[in-house]
Amino acid sequence: MLKESSKAKLRIWNIGAYNMSYTRNILITGGAGFIGSHLVRLMVNKYPHYRIVNLDKLTYAGNLKNLSDVEEKTNYTFVKADICDQKAIIDVFSNYQITDVIHLAAESHVDRSIEGPMEFVMTNVVGTVNLLQCAKDAWKDTEGNIFHHVSTDEVYGSLGAEGLFKETTSYDPRSPYSSSKASSDHFVRAFHHTYGMNIKLSNCSNNYGSHQFPEKLIPLMINNIVNKKPLPVYGKGDNIRDWLWVNDHASAIDRIFHDGRIGEAYNVGGLNEWTNIDLVKYLCGLLDEKLGRASGENESLITYVADRAGHDMRYAIDATKLENELNWRPSLEFEEGLSITVDWYLENSEWIEDITSGSYMDYYNDMYKNR
Ligand code: NAD
Ligand code: TYD
Repeated sequence: MLKESSKAKLRIWNIGAYNMSYTRNILITGGAGFIGSHLVRLMVNKYPHYRIVNLDKLTYAGNLKNLSDVEEKTNYTFVKADICDQKAIIDVFSNYQITDVIHLAAESHVDRSIEGPMEFVMTNVVGTVNLLQCAKDAWKDTEGNIFHHVSTDEVYGSLGAEGLFKETTSYDPRSPYSSSKASSDHFVRAFHHTYGMNIKLSNCSNNYGSHQFPEKLIPLMINNIVNKKPLPVYGKGDNIRDWLWVNDHASAIDRIFHDGRIGEAYNVGGLNEWTNIDLVKYLCGLLDEKLGRASGENESLITYVADRAGHDMRYAIDATKLENELNWRPSLEFEEGLSITVDWYLENSEWIEDITSGSYMDYYNDMYKNR
């Protein structure tokens, strides 16, 4: 059981998990965020014989409401903690007998990293090394434990008009965010080569889907279109991103975690490149139809604004290694995924309103703190 001192720090919410015998106790970090919440939901539902411990600091990007549909499941546990807090992480490994880690907790927004890089260094670099160190110590007498690090294609830098990022592409990060993620990737590999830790990495392209914090391009544009606010397109809008449905990213992590080779990295993407302006115009048209507005009405909201500093021109992923070795493919065409995603934001306007009003931050105190 927890010592009093660590209880104060950890604030653990746990439902009847101690009496069950699980085949794995998996620590998922950052599970209250966008991708993490989709992964937690997948793992909790698909693997009732695994205990899933979701550890999250609940920064502005963490929203426990994302997981309200799984929070009563017996194989799910939430722990509020910071991955930089060594004592808290040691306690979690010990209290839950953690067998494996899937690490997603990060500061994830490029614009915020430009405004203030230090938080990115603390969480993405220092936090990752702390997690690695605690895992190494906790697993010193056991074998077969896996540390899966979830990373981004942005570590490879920026492409010109041609070519795709392969796993062998040299790292060339250019923003504070991608530099911090590249650094964390290097530390994860170092723990494999130096200490023999069973690590796996996945580097994914831009994700879209439900529950994405509305500072990122797609939910921000949907929200602004609904509210008839300007649609801020950076520069000329000709930067290219390669979009993947978040549920497909979660299924890829599941596949790599279980079947990927130890010490290997896998690129994850859907061969789905769009310029930002084409994507924004497509969303405008889709929402003209769904909101019953006149054709072209939403496009008039497009506003070109100053470009992002150091804005990477093009990202595009070659995911053939993942396809050939692990038989993974995206399940949805982009247009279908985008339509499902837009419908979700339209049907869940209270989810966005909770964020805009800040009330989502009360959920932990209301639902967990005193239980
Ligand atoms: P997100 O910002 O939505 O969520 C991050 C989560 O981490 C939040 O719940 C936050 O509370 C938590 N967190 C932040 N700092 C923490 C700390 N110090 N300790 C514990 N928890 C902390 O991010 P996301 O978009 O879901 O991305 C998840 C991971 O996937 C990140 O590692 C990101 O680099 C990677 N990734 C994201 C994308 C994308 O398109 N969003 C693409 C490829 C890879
Ligand atoms: P974003 O969703 O922040 O992801 P990333 O920077 O990790 O690729 O941005 C996606 C693209 O959209 C990127 O090229 C920047 C651009 N963008 C805009 O043009 N306007 C916006 O308001 C935002 C948030 C992004």
